[in-house]
Amino acid sequence: MEIDLSTIQGYEQEIDSAKTSDELYQVKVKYLGKKGLISGMNKQLKDVPNDQKKEFGMKIGELRNKFEALFSEKENNLAKSEMDAKLVNEALDITMEGFPLHAGSQHPIMSIYYEIADIFGSMGFEVAVGPEVELEHYNFDMLNIPAEHPARDMQDTFYISDNVLLRTHTSPVQTRMMEANKPPIKIIAPGKVYRCDYDITHTPMFHQVEGLLVDTNVTFADLKGTLTTFIQRMFGSNVPVRFRPSFFPFTEPSAELDMGCTICDSVGCRVCKGTGWIEILGCGMCNDELYRHAGYEPGVYSGFAFGMGIERIAMLKYGIGDLRSFFENNLKFLRQF
Ligand code: PHE
Repeated sequence: MEIDLSTIQGYEQEIDSAKTSDELYQVKVKYLGKKGLISGMNKQLKDVPNDQKKEFGMKIGELRNKFEALFSEKENNLAKSEMDAKLVNEALDITMEGFPLHAGSQHPIMSIYYEIADIFGSMGFEVAVGPEVELEHYNFDMLNIPAEHPARDMQDTFYISDNVLLRTHTSPVQTRMMEANKPPIKIIAPGKVYRCDYDITHTPMFHQVEGLLVDTNVTFADLKGTLTTFIQRMFGSNVPVRFRPSFFPFTEPSAELDMGCTICDSVGCRVCKGTGWIEILGCGMCNDELYRHAGYEPGVYSGFAFGMGIERIAMLKYGIGDLRSFFENNLKFLRQF
């Protein structure tokens, strides 16, 4: 029997007209698959007389090679055009502007704190910290704040239990410091403090920086010099300051430090209530009671203490009217700083 290779026809056309890789693959299956037309020829070889086997074998081989050459050319063409189409359909415009990424920034309260810490740091004060959940002993008793003092009232202070509370100021950091160390002491105590209060100038949590300097021969002039320097480095060297007599149970004499209103240049406005002055911090010379509670020998040491609210300073520096805006986490507000 003879093999009739002429029955294998039309594959050139079929390869040529395949529109997709899938269609092309179907053509391959048709001719070269297990039951394909060209593969079938190989099976028929066994019925061919021996002297013709070689010749027919070669012819089948040629046909197969021809098919594969056409096939792979078409395969490459289709792959390329399919890739081109994909690139057009899934195109990325790499020149398109991206979405701006906000890297985040320091909270204004922290920025002001670092400014304050830098100024006192440059004058030799070190930073000390202590617990926010505090014993009444360190928050009040050691500071000579008597039982009948309004600060001790539940209205003003968050009590955890009978003698445990959320510290109402950072002064307990200083009393702990005095209890554990002999002078010289020269620290600032920054941190969160808590009072039962809520309106445009009060939030139940706010931040303080208090300071304590105890040594020998410290005078009120040192206090005035240190705090005047601080205010003028913070708000400008021309800002006037004045010390107004005041009272704290742990200092004597005590004073309130006022500075010229930076909003109206001391002319008088809503913020300074027409006075031209703004109250900025409390201070005074440490009194004997404070030393007695700390266990210091009487009459040996002298020193001063001061305390301020960071929010108040931030409000004045940035001209912010409502204290609560610092804690509302409104990104529009926070991104201004
Ligand atoms: N501890 C006082 C307060 O929080 C502030 C202060 C500190 C006043 C040191 C004088 C001296 O109100």
